[in-house]
Amino acid sequence: MKNITSGQFKMIAKTQQGLEPLLEKELLELGAVNTQRHKRAVSFEGNKRLLYKVNLHSRLSLKILVPFFNFKAINDKQLYDAISSINWDDLLSVNGTLAVDGLLRSDYFNHSQYIALKTKDAIVDQFREKYKKRPDVDVVNPDLRLNLHIFQDTATLSLDSSNDSLHRRGYREDANKAPLNEVTAAAIVKMCGWNGAEPLMDGMCGSGTILIEAAMIALNIPANYLRKRFGFQSWLDYDHQLWQEVKHEGKAGIKDIPLKINGSDISWDTLEIAKSNVEKAGLAGVIKLDKIPFENLTPNAPKGCLIMNPPYGERLELEEANAFYKMIGDKFKKDFSGWQAWVLSSNQNAMKSIRLKTSQRLLVFNGPLECKFHQYEMYQGTKRVFDAEPKTESGE
Ligand SMILES: C[S@@+](CC[C@H](N)C(=O)[O-])C[C@H]1O[C@@H](n2cnc3c(N)ncnc32)[C@H](O)[C@@H]1O
Repeated sequence: MKNITSGQFKMIAKTQQGLEPLLEKELLELGAVNTQRHKRAVSFEGNKRLLYKVNLHSRLSLKILVPFFNFKAINDKQLYDAISSINWDDLLSVNGTLAVDGLLRSDYFNHSQYIALKTKDAIVDQFREKYKKRPDVDVVNPDLRLNLHIFQDTATLSLDSSNDSLHRRGYREDANKAPLNEVTAAAIVKMCGWNGAEPLMDGMCGSGTILIEAAMIALNIPANYLRKRFGFQSWLDYDHQLWQEVKHEGKAGIKDIPLKINGSDISWDTLEIAKSNVEKAGLAGVIKLDKIPFENLTPNAPKGCLIMNPPYGERLELEEANAFYKMIGDKFKKDFSGWQAWVLSSNQNAMKSIRLKTSQRLLVFNGPLECKFHQYEMYQGTKRVFDAEPKTESGE
């Protein structure tokens, strides 16, 4: 372990599809060097301080992996032998706990769970031979989480420095039925370019994810400020002093500036969840929540940014979903002149019923769900679109 995270080393930040360019920018801002984009990931280099810093600050990463062993394997024995060749005493105590995640795209192996099991067997067998004892498996909170990725005959073994996915920020325990992933919410706020200078509203705020991520961005609150634990904290080379320094720097960077952030929703129950999340995030004095149906919402300033993630309406009859989205478009046109309005939805058909000229149409994934994120610049005389197929930059 000493050798893996001493000096400069390679790391891989995993993310959601489509967020690679935004993530690369974020990593560069945090001090990463030699960045390279991959599918759903960005690799980069840095030292242990950067590893801790990225875990604390990255809004767009799901995991930070540290790849440390590459090998070729086309069968179980080769896999087992390669894993056995590592001196596991350097990475884990015999009294520690272990978890292995497997990921596979190979003609030689069939099941990701099987390669994870083989890896675990090789590790615990090594301990048992040496000490007549073995580390236990703990899939939730292990001292060491490993990630084995096999592409055809090429395997990469990585340390998982985050353990739990980094979208679990620590402010959300309760969720409504269709909460937005925190990474998606942070990404769409960044896509809008909102920085706190203007008011922000979410007229269908659900559990408040967009509002919370936006406030954290504007106030420069580290994304994972509230998280209790990261994987690297139980590694044998964990540097508690360094982690305290990184956290202290993160805290010192938090801004104290006035923000105007309002969320509303039609449902009391959902607003209760939003309220609890906002409180847990320490943002009760920053984010104002009200029960208002969007149909009755009025803007609180002559201009600002309205971001909404309406119900996708899959369970509604198509006509009902179309009428609901038409109401949204009518409302934008009637009452939100001067505002930038953004809508995130996976219901592309219903989105056409908004019938306003889009100025940007972006593809965004909410977890595995493919969504569109459309911008409508509202000004006196914003054009109605009746042919329902506005032109796009990407020509989609
Ligand atoms: C997809 S959810 C939003 C999820 C939210 N972004 C989050 O992170 O939890 C859609 C929300 O729209 C709300 N909603 C539905 N119809 C509404 C209306 N007419 N006015 C205001 N809110 C409405 C629902 O109560 C629900 O909370």
